Amino acid sequence: MHTKKTNTTGREPLDVDLLLLGATGDLAARKIIPALFERFRMQELDEACCFMGLARQNLTNAEFISLIDCKVRPFLAEETNDELWQVFINRWKYINVSVLEDKDKKDKKEEALNPIHTHLRKPCVRVIYLATPPHLFIQLIHLLGQAQLFSNNTRIVLEKPLGSDAQSAQAINKAALNYLAEHQIYRIDHYLGKESVQNLLALRFGNILFEPLWRREWISDVQITLAEDLGLSGRSGYYDGVGALRDMVQNHLLQLLAIVAMEPPSRMDADSVRDEKLKIFKALKPMTPERVAQCVVRGQYSTGVIQGKNVSAYAQEEGVASTTNTETFVAIKAEIDNWRWAGVPFYLRTGKRLAHKTAEIIIRFKPLPTQLLPISQFNTGSLKHPNCLLIRLQPDEILSFSLMTKKPGDGMRLGAVNLSLDFDSAFSTRRMEAYERLLLDVMRGELTLFTRADELDAAWQWIDPIIKAWEQEDDGPKLYTAGTWGPAAANALINRDGLLWQEQI
Ligand code: BG6
Repeated sequence: MHTKKTNTTGREPLDVDLLLLGATGDLAARKIIPALFERFRMQELDEACCFMGLARQNLTNAEFISLIDCKVRPFLAEETNDELWQVFINRWKYINVSVLEDKDKKDKKEEALNPIHTHLRKPCVRVIYLATPPHLFIQLIHLLGQAQLFSNNTRIVLEKPLGSDAQSAQAINKAALNYLAEHQIYRIDHYLGKESVQNLLALRFGNILFEPLWRREWISDVQITLAEDLGLSGRSGYYDGVGALRDMVQNHLLQLLAIVAMEPPSRMDADSVRDEKLKIFKALKPMTPERVAQCVVRGQYSTGVIQGKNVSAYAQEEGVASTTNTETFVAIKAEIDNWRWAGVPFYLRTGKRLAHKTAEIIIRFKPLPTQLLPISQFNTGSLKHPNCLLIRLQPDEILSFSLMTKKPGDGMRLGAVNLSLDFDSAFSTRRMEAYERLLLDVMRGELTLFTRADELDAAWQWIDPIIKAWEQEDDGPKLYTAGTWGPAAANALINRDGLLWQEQI
C-alpha cells in the first residue's frame, strides 16, 4: 500500500495540487497521467496530493474516472498494481468547463472555474498544466487569472508549440506574465527531459576528453536527425497547418543543437544553462530568403511502404485537405557564427513517415591531414571521417565512438571499430520517461529543463524568416516516398558540401 515519508530517492514525497486542463485529451492520456501515476507509484507524491482534471466534455466525476481507467491504462509504464491504480484514479476530481464553448454564456465562464476553489489547499504548491491546443492558452490564462487561481505558489506548465511565430509566442508570454513571474512559467519541451539528453550534458561536462576537441578546429560537421516512421496518428487537427518546422525544428531540434553547441555554463543552475543556450540561438546565422532557398528543404510524404505495409500520402490522410502545403519533412543546414563553431555546418533533419524511427546526433571529427596507413575496405565515410561520435537518443540509447584500428592478420591495414556503450545493458535500472522527470521538476521548482521566454523568442526569430520565405515561394514542399529518407533535395543539401547523411555512408 502507498505509504508516506519514504520513497525510492530518499526524498520527502511532494505535496501538490495539480490542475490539468485538457484532461480528456490525447496528451493527458498518453503522457501526463501515466507519468504522474508512475511517480505516485514510486511514492514521490504525497497521499494528500489533489489532482483535478478540467475539460469541455460533459462528464460526471465517476465517468471521468472510468474514462481515465480505460484510456490511460494502456499507456502505463509498468504492469499495474490494481489496488494502487484504483487509489490513484479515485484521487481525481473532474471539473466540467463545457460552458467555455458556449458563446451565449460568456458571463458564466468564470463561474465554471469556481468549483476548483473548493478542492484547492491554499498553502501547497499549485501546478496548473495547460495540455490544451495552444490557441486556447491566452483565453485560459486570463480566465484562470480572473478566477483568482494564480498565487505565489502557482506554477504554470505550457505545452509546445508556444505560438506559431515570434509575435504569437510573445502574446502568450505577455498574458502569462500579467499574472505570474517568469520563474513560475514552465515551458515544456519533452526532449529536454529525455534521459539521453541528460547524458549528453554528462558526456560534455562530466568528462575532460571531448572538451578540447569540441570546436571548429577538430569537428567537421554535426548532424541531428529526428526521424519518425509514424504518420499523423489521428492528429491531423493539430498538425495540418503547423507542420514539421513548428512542431519539431523550432523546439526539439533547436534545443538539441543548443545543448551540443553551448559553452560550458558557469554553474548547472537554470539561468546559467539557459543563458548559454540563448547565446547559441542568437549566434545562429540569420535566414535570408536566399539562404532559405539554398539551405532549407521542405518535403511532404506521398504514398509508400512502411514496415511492409502500404501507407497513404499525407494529402490523403483523414482530416487533411488534398491541396495542403504543410511540410512533413524539413532539412536545414544551420551555421553558428561564434568563435567555437564558425564554419562548422549543423545539418538538422526531421520528418514523418521516414525509413524508421530514430533520434540521433552525429559529430564527425575532421579528416586526417594525410592517410599514412592503408584502409582495408574502401569506405568513403570512414575514410573521410575516421573518428565519429554517435549519440542515439532513441529507439535504443547508445553512445558510440568510431576509431580506426589495425585489422588482425598479416600486414598493416586499418578498419573502423566502434567503442559502444548501450545504456540498457549497462544500467539495468528503468529509464525515467521524459514527462516523469519534467513533472517532478515542476513540482520541485527546478527550471533548468524548461525554456525561458527569451530563448523561445530567439528561436522563433530564427524560424520566422523561413516561414516568410516559404509563404513567398511558388513551389510547395517536395514530395518524398513514405518509407525513404525524405526528398532527394535533402541529400543534395549535404552532398553539395562533399558530405553524406549517416545512412548514405
Ligand atoms: C512531439 C510532436 O512534440 O514530439 C510529435 O508534436 C512527435 O509530432 C513527437 O511525434 C515525437 O516525440 P518522441 O518523444 O516520440 O520522439
